Amino acid sequence: MQLPNGIRHLPGYLDRPAQEALVEAIRAVVADAPLFTPVMPGTGKEMSVRMTNCGSLGWVTDRQRGYRYQPTHPATGRPWPAMPQQLLDFWRDIAGYEKLPEACLVNFYGDDARMGLHQDRDEQDLNAPVLSVSLGNTCLFRVGGLNRNDRTLSFKLASGDIVVLGGEGRLCFHGVDRIYPATSTLLKNGGRINLTLRRVN
Ligand code: CO
Repeated sequence: MQLPNGIRHLPGYLDRPAQEALVEAIRAVVADAPLFTPVMPGTGKEMSVRMTNCGSLGWVTDRQRGYRYQPTHPATGRPWPAMPQQLLDFWRDIAGYEKLPEACLVNFYGDDARMGLHQDRDEQDLNAPVLSVSLGNTCLFRVGGLNRNDRTLSFKLASGDIVVLGGEGRLCFHGVDRIYPATSTLLKNGGRINLTLRRVN
């Protein structure tokens, strides 16, 4: 399978102990910055994922103000918790980009959640890659080209996999078609966590 230029799939980058340590760190993030249900701008339609963030900025969306980054949690008004050190280490080792990520979006997918085809383009710095870490149940990830109607291909992402969207692939359309229940024992109650590291400014 030939991925589009600039898109890298690193299967099994995190071994099981590293996955467990990261889940612990994310539990602490969620305890401080509770998961919320994002809604689409305009329509107010709820997305099927729940989300929170860590880092100096977090990605949020609501009906009135749309997609944006902000330094505080929309419900608590507190600053987002710090990004776990492991994530900064992955960025240093993989991203090939000197500036550190400012935002880590934490998406929790229940086993029936999905994510429609979209581009990550709310960042000013489009030279920085997007680095995504998968934890928990396997998903079917879909990636296309720079136009919504370009041909797409799909492949599975398992717990511990990392995907990088960089260079020519930075703005490729992508989404999550489905989650495969009971494909990982990492998360006690099933589902999948996706961590997306981004440089914003
Ligand atoms: Co995305």
